[in-house]
Amino acid sequence: MEEKTAIKRIEELRDLINYHNRRYYQLDDPEISDPEYDHLMRELIALENQYAGHIDINASPTQRVGAAPLEKFDSVPHLSPMLSLANAFSEEEILSFNERIKRLLDTQEDVSYVVEPKLDGIGVNLVYEKGILKSGSTRGDGAIGEDITQNLRTIHAIPLKMKSAPAIAGAIPDLIEIRGEVYIGTDAFKELNGQRIADGNNPFANPRNAAAGSLRQLDSRITAKRPLAIFCYAMGFADPDLSGFRTHWEFLQALAVWGFPVNPHIRRAENTEECIAYHREMTARRETLPYEIDGTVIKVDSIDIRSRLGTVSRSPRWAIACKFAATQAITTIEDIVIQVGRTGVLTPVAEMKPVRIAGVMVSRATLHNQDEINKKSIHIGDTVIVQRAGDVIPEIVRTIGTSAESSESLFRIPDTCPVCGSRVIRLKDEAAHRCINIDCPAQIRENIKHFVSRGGMDIEGLGEKLISQMFEHGIISDPADLYYLTKDGLANLERMGDVSARNLLSSLEKSKTPPLEKFIFALGIRHTGEHVSKVLARRFGTLDNIVNASEEDLLPVKEIGPEIAGSITTFFREPSNLRTLEKLKKAGVKPVESHTVSGGLSGKTFVLTGTLQKFSRNRAKEIIESLGGNVSSSVTKSTDYVVVGTSPGSKLDKARRLDILVLDEEEFLEITGQGTENQKSGGNLL
Ligand code: IVH
Repeated sequence: MEEKTAIKRIEELRDLINYHNRRYYQLDDPEISDPEYDHLMRELIALENQYAGHIDINASPTQRVGAAPLEKFDSVPHLSPMLSLANAFSEEEILSFNERIKRLLDTQEDVSYVVEPKLDGIGVNLVYEKGILKSGSTRGDGAIGEDITQNLRTIHAIPLKMKSAPAIAGAIPDLIEIRGEVYIGTDAFKELNGQRIADGNNPFANPRNAAAGSLRQLDSRITAKRPLAIFCYAMGFADPDLSGFRTHWEFLQALAVWGFPVNPHIRRAENTEECIAYHREMTARRETLPYEIDGTVIKVDSIDIRSRLGTVSRSPRWAIACKFAATQAITTIEDIVIQVGRTGVLTPVAEMKPVRIAGVMVSRATLHNQDEINKKSIHIGDTVIVQRAGDVIPEIVRTIGTSAESSESLFRIPDTCPVCGSRVIRLKDEAAHRCINIDCPAQIRENIKHFVSRGGMDIEGLGEKLISQMFEHGIISDPADLYYLTKDGLANLERMGDVSARNLLSSLEKSKTPPLEKFIFALGIRHTGEHVSKVLARRFGTLDNIVNASEEDLLPVKEIGPEIAGSITTFFREPSNLRTLEKLKKAGVKPVESHTVSGGLSGKTFVLTGTLQKFSRNRAKEIIESLGGNVSSSVTKSTDYVVVGTSPGSKLDKARRLDILVLDEEEFLEITGQGTENQKSGGNLL
C-alpha cells in the first residue's frame, strides 16, 4: 500500500474503532460483532506497526489496552493549579455565599449560576496538545500531581483525540488542560466487588476507593479491566486562552462537542433560590443516580464575573460545594452473624442497634472478612461508626469503644459452616473463608435467589423470604424446580393465598423466554457477571453455542481471559448443571437468541402506553433495545412508534395528533420478530 493511502486508512480505522468503542462502552449498544471489531483492530495494529515513523501513535485506540508496568509514578506540575472548593453544609451557607458575591460585585442584581452534581470520584487533569491527549495526572497537592497517563488512556470515555468544532468558540486550542472526575458507577462497582469477593480478594470499601485504587495501579493492564468512567467539568490552562467563551455553560457545550462526557444533570440557575431547589432535588434523587455524588456544586456562570471575584486560599470565590448531610452514625454491635454466599464465601455481618443514617434505618453492616475484622479490631458489644453510601451495603468504618466484657477476643469466623456443618477453609492468597461443600443448602438457596433476581430471570413476586420458605419446605432444591411449582404445592406456604399463588405462577410463566444474556447471568457461573453474560450472548448468539464453546472458542473474545473461560467450560461440563439445564428446557424455558448485530430498529424511538397483556414493559424494553431501538417516556415529534396496551392514556391521543405509527401488542411482536411462529429460541438444548 502506498504510504499516503496507508496513513489515510489508519485515520479511517481509528475513527471507525472510536465510533464502535463509543457504541460498545458508552451506549452499551454495539453495531458490529466482536470478530468484526477484532478484525478492524488487527488491521490498525498492523498498519501502525508498519508506518510507526510517520504517525502519532498517541491518538490511537490501540493505546487503550494498557502498557508495561511502571516502577513508580512520576510527579508532574499542573500548568495551572487544581483548586479545591469551599464547602457549604446548609441552605443558609448557600445564601451567604450568594450575598458575599453580590457584595464583592457591589450589585443588587441576581447572579446567574450553573449547578452541577458533585461527583464522588477522583479529580484528574488531562493535557491535550493540538487536540491529542498527551498526559494526565491526579490532583496531588493541587500544584503537582502524579503522572497516570498510561492508566487514563485505558478509560474509553476519555477521548484520545478531541473532536473539532470549528463553528463554536471552542475551536481546538494548541494546548488545554481539561479537568474531570473519574468514577466507577454503582452497578459496575457491585459487580466488581462481587467478583473480588468470589475470587477471595478484599472488596473495595466504596466506589470512590475502587476508582482511586484502579487509577493508582502501576500496571495499566489492570486499570484497563476496571469499569472506570469520567465526567468533565472544568478547564485549567489553555493557549490561546479561549476568551471566546463568555460563560461556563458555553464552555460545557464545547466540552461535549469536543467529545468529553459531560454530566446530564448540569443546569443553569438564575438565582440562589433555583440553586437551593436544585440541591433539594438532587438530595432526593441521589439514590437513583447510577453513580455516587456527595453534594452539588454551584458555579458562577459568567467567566468575566469569575475573574473579577478571583481566588482565596486555593478555592475560587465563584464556586461552592454544597455537601449532603453526613452518611455516618454511631451505634453498637449487638451480634455478629455469618452469611454463606452463592460461592460458599462466609461473610461476617454485624447486627447493630438500629440507627438512622441519611433518612434510612440501618441495623446490619458487612464486616467483609477476617482481615477486616482484625484490621478494625471488632468485637461484639463495640461502639462503632457506621457508614452508608448510596445504595451500597452499610459498613463499619471503625470502632470507637470496646466494652469491658467484649474486650477479651476479636470475633473469629468459625471453622465449620454454620449452615451445613462442613469444613471451612481459607485458600492461599484469599481473604475469604469458604464452606467446601458445593451442596451446602445456603449456596443452593443463594443460587436460586440469584437465578430469579432482576439481572437474571427477573421473576416478579419471588422475594428472598418466599424462596427460603420454599427451600425449607423442600418444594424447590434447584432453580429449575421453580417451573414445576403447582398451586397445590404452594398452598401449604405461609401467607400464600390463592391470588398470590396464581400471580407467582403467572410471573414464572412469563419469565420463560428471557433474553439469552439474562439467562446466562442467572445461571451464576463464576466470573460471569452481567457484562460478561452480555458479551457471551452477543458473541455466540445461542445457548447451545455457549454450552459447547471450548476454551479456544472463548479466549479470542475481548474481555474473556483464561479465568473466565475456565469457569465457563467447567460449569458446562458439570453433570448437575447440565441436568438443571435439561430440566429447565423440559419445563419450557427458552432463552431468546441474541442478535449479534443491531437489527432493524436501530435509532428508532418507542413509547409504551396502557397496560400490556402479552409481555411486561421491561420485556418490551429489552426486545426494543436488543434490536438497536430505544424507549422513551413521552411522545414527541421524534417518536417512531407508540405501542398500546389496554386503557391507553393521553399518549395515544398525542401520537394520533402527531401522526405517529401506533402498534398494538400483536403488531409489535410481529415487527420485532417475536411472533410465535418465528420466535427464535436458544437452540437444541433448551
Ligand atoms: S469544579 C475550582 N465541579 O470536587 C473548581 N469539581 O472539592 C474546580 N468535584 O477537586 C473543581 N464534582 O475533584 C468541580 N462538578 C464538579 C465536581 C468537582 C466533583 C471534585 C473535584 C474537586 C473537588 C473539590
